[in-house]
Amino acid sequence: PSQFAVFGHPIAHSLSPRIHQAFARQCDIALEYRTIDAAPVDFAAAVHGFFAAGGAGANVTLPHKGAAFALAGERSEAATRAGTANVLSRLPDGRLAAHNTDGAGLVRDLTERHRVDLRGHDALMLGAGGAARAVAWSLLDAGVQTLTIVNRTPETADALADAIGEPARVHTRYWDDLANLGSYDLIVNATSAGVLGGGLKLPMSLVGARALCYDLAYGAAAIDFVAWAKAAKARYAWDGLGMLVEQAAEAFELWHGRRPDTEPVYQALRAAV
Ligand code: ATR
Repeated sequence: PSQFAVFGHPIAHSLSPRIHQAFARQCDIALEYRTIDAAPVDFAAAVHGFFAAGGAGANVTLPHKGAAFALAGERSEAATRAGTANVLSRLPDGRLAAHNTDGAGLVRDLTERHRVDLRGHDALMLGAGGAARAVAWSLLDAGVQTLTIVNRTPETADALADAIGEPARVHTRYWDDLANLGSYDLIVNATSAGVLGGGLKLPMSLVGARALCYDLAYGAAAIDFVAWAKAAKARYAWDGLGMLVEQAAEAFELWHGRRPDTEPVYQALRAAV
């Protein structure tokens, strides 16, 4: 069977092997999918070793998404915009192609699983790092009317807004001003505060009457933000488990040319996580 893997550090608790194996069973495809723990200094060598030994494709997660983008010989538009990659594929000539399926995964989770029409939404994005860059363009492409980016370090928010280059739709504001910004229809937590265990102190005034609050992280890392959104009476408060499954489905389709049915896999993980 063909060989797949997810690279990360740490990686032991990754759900990706389980997701891809479930998709493969659905589609009657034989594959092996394992986790590879590589420290940052060893990442490039580990990736090249994996593909040299016949690896067909790899997922990449923290902290390697930037390095995965950098080592690829070819890059998709989504990866180029993000400056990061969560998927590596082997090209026929042996070089590696970098993709980023996180933005497409988020939009699919919102619009197909949750049936939300993003058109006309005024969106607030908390954070401007790799995760934010991976989803910002996708939200705009999905019809979000305005996107306000707020980051603890304002220069990074400005750099992302400049990279998007749509000054009529994309604005930046200061983190210290969050209490004065009014309310939003969509609030995306793209900070790593939950992953790092630091709490965000967010004003409830951000949450509009029909607001959808979404944390790109899932499980324990999303608990604080989801609890804040519920306390602020958000209409919806979701973690990123659906996005995780959908970004995997996008990768699966790139590798196998087949689109799996994500719903049973999502439901099984939701019951387990
Ligand atoms: P990721 O790949 O998860 O996006 P990253 O590129 O390191 O990781 O970006 C982390 C993001 O979370 C950044 O926007 C960071 O803000 P800074 O640019 O100011 O560092 C944000 N972040 C992390 N911890 C935070 C905290 N406690 N409060 C606010 N923002 C935080």
